[in-house]
Amino acid sequence: MSDGGFERIKDLDEQYVMRTYRRLPVAFVRGSGCWLYDISGNKYLDMVSGLGAVPLGHCHQDVTEAIKKQAETVIHTTNLFYIEPQAELAKMIVDSSFPGKCFFANSGAEANEGALKLCRKYHFEKGQTREKYVCAYGSFHGRTFATLSATGQPAKWDPFKPVVPGFHHVPWNDTDALEREVDADTCAVFLEPIQGESGVYPATVEYLKAARSICDSTGALLVLDEVQTGIARTGKMFAYEHYGILPDVMTLAKGLGNGVPIGAFIASEKCAFALKAGDHGSTFGGGFLACAAGIATLNYIIGKNLTDHVREVGTFLWDELERIKREIPVVTGIRGLGLMLALQLEMEVSREVVVECLKRGVIVNDVNPSSVRLLPPLTITLEEVSHGIGILEEVLKKKC
Ligand SMILES: Cc1ncc(COP(=O)(O)O)c(C=O)c1O
Repeated sequence: MSDGGFERIKDLDEQYVMRTYRRLPVAFVRGSGCWLYDISGNKYLDMVSGLGAVPLGHCHQDVTEAIKKQAETVIHTTNLFYIEPQAELAKMIVDSSFPGKCFFANSGAEANEGALKLCRKYHFEKGQTREKYVCAYGSFHGRTFATLSATGQPAKWDPFKPVVPGFHHVPWNDTDALEREVDADTCAVFLEPIQGESGVYPATVEYLKAARSICDSTGALLVLDEVQTGIARTGKMFAYEHYGILPDVMTLAKGLGNGVPIGAFIASEKCAFALKAGDHGSTFGGGFLACAAGIATLNYIIGKNLTDHVREVGTFLWDELERIKREIPVVTGIRGLGLMLALQLEMEVSREVVVECLKRGVIVNDVNPSSVRLLPPLTITLEEVSHGIGILEEVLKKKC
C-alpha cells in the first residue's frame, strides 16, 4: 500500500477516478477509535467520523469481530431467501423506534428513494393519486434523481434539469409556508430534523410539531430523513425524540453500520403494508455483512447507553464552543444537538480552517463556506474533545 506513498495515490486518483470530489491532501491507511493514521504515519484526531458514518470510532472491536465472523460464514445470498441478521436488525430498529416494518438498502439516498416510493404507493393503495412531495429549502436527501429533486438546493438541480417532477420546496422552519403548501394532493412531507449538509440547522420544536399536525389533517405522510441525525448522533437514538412527535416513515443510513454501507427505512404500521412483493427491492440491501455490522453497532450503542455519553460530551463540547465564541470575534454562532454541531464564522474561511486543522492533526469539516461542522465519533472522550478544540481554537485565533 505504501508503494510510492501519497504522491502515487494522488496521481492514480487524478488519472483514473472521476473528478467528483474536492479532496484534502491526505490518504489515511489505518484507523483506531477516534484516530486516523496517514500513509506517512502521522496521527489525526477524527472529529468528522466519515461524515457521521463511524459512530463507534474506527475499527471498533465489536463491529470488526461481527464482520469477520460473518465473512467466514456467509456473505451474500440475495433477498430471494430469508436472511437472519436482516430480520434481527429490523427487530432492533423497530424496538428502538416505533411499531412498523423495515426495508434495507445500501445508502442514505437509496433509503430515501424507497421511502418516496412507499409514500406514493400508500396513497395508490387507498385509491388516490397524490403527486406532490413537500420538502424544505436547504435540505439534503441524496444524489439520485429523485433524492436530488427532493434536496432543497436549486444550484444542485441546475446542471441536471429537468429534475423529477412533483417536488415542492418551502422555506425552512416556516410553519405558515408549510401550511400553505401542503394540501389534499400532497403525498408526503419530507424533512430532516436537523438539516446537516447545508450547515447544521435544527428544526424548531414548533415546526416539526406543526408538520405532524398538518400531515394529520391533510392525510399526507410525514417522512423524517434521519440519515445523519439517527443512531444516537444527537443524544437520543433518533432526533425526532427531541420533538415529541412520531414520523410515519424514518430513513436511516450513515451510523447504522459503523462504516459498512447500509441504508434502511422504517414505515409505521399505518403505511408499511403499502409496498408489496415486486414493488421495491435491492440485490445487496439487507445483506449478511452489513446487517451483522448494524447489529453489532446497535448492540453497543444500546448496551452502553451511549446516548447518555453523547449528551455529556456534547454539552462539554457546546460549552467549549461557547467559550471560543466569547473569546474569538469571528465566531458568531453555534448550532446543533449532541455531537452534531457547527460553528458559524463571520467570514468565508471554513476551508482554510479545515486545512490548517488538518496540518495540525485534527479533522473538522467545512460544511459550508462560513461554517465548520463537528461530527466526532460518539465514543469520543472529554480529553479527546479538549485536544481537538484546543487545535481548532489555535487555528481560529491565528486565521481570524
Ligand atoms: C440527511 C441526509 N440524507 C441523505 C443523505 C445521502 O446519503 P448517502 O450519501 O449515503 O446516499 C445524506 C448524506 O449526507 C444526508 O445527510
